[in-house]
Amino acid sequence: MITLTKDMEIGVQKVDDQHRELVNRLNAVTSMGANSVSKEETEKTIDFLCDYILLHFNDEEALQKQSGYPKYEWHKGQHQLYVAEIGKLKQEFFMNGASAKFTLDLNNSIVNWIVRHIKSADVEFGKFYRAN
Ligand SMILES: [Fe+2]
Repeated sequence: MITLTKDMEIGVQKVDDQHRELVNRLNAVTSMGANSVSKEETEKTIDFLCDYILLHFNDEEALQKQSGYPKYEWHKGQHQLYVAEIGKLKQEFFMNGASAKFTLDLNNSIVNWIVRHIKSADVEFGKFYRAN
């Protein structure tokens, strides 16, 4: 279970609001392991997260482009890598269900990654955006 801590706030309202929703949807996926939910339900919850990730990355990239953020291309590349990781996670679930690998990848490549990304790359963008 993750919470949007102070050091994850970037100071841009729209992005912070979206990060809060993103964290909620992430928690919905990670908490499923503890409850016994059906495969369909799990798939729906993962898709619910994926849809939001795409929407959020799009909006964040649009803000970067509009504001002439110099690291826009790099940041967008990071988002693309993440989307690929989520794709792999979905594939793993599709093939093997909530396997040990699925849980491990979910925690390492998905949850930890996004927390690190928000704390560093997004916070850095927030500073730029507020100064410009
Ligand atoms: Fe980002």
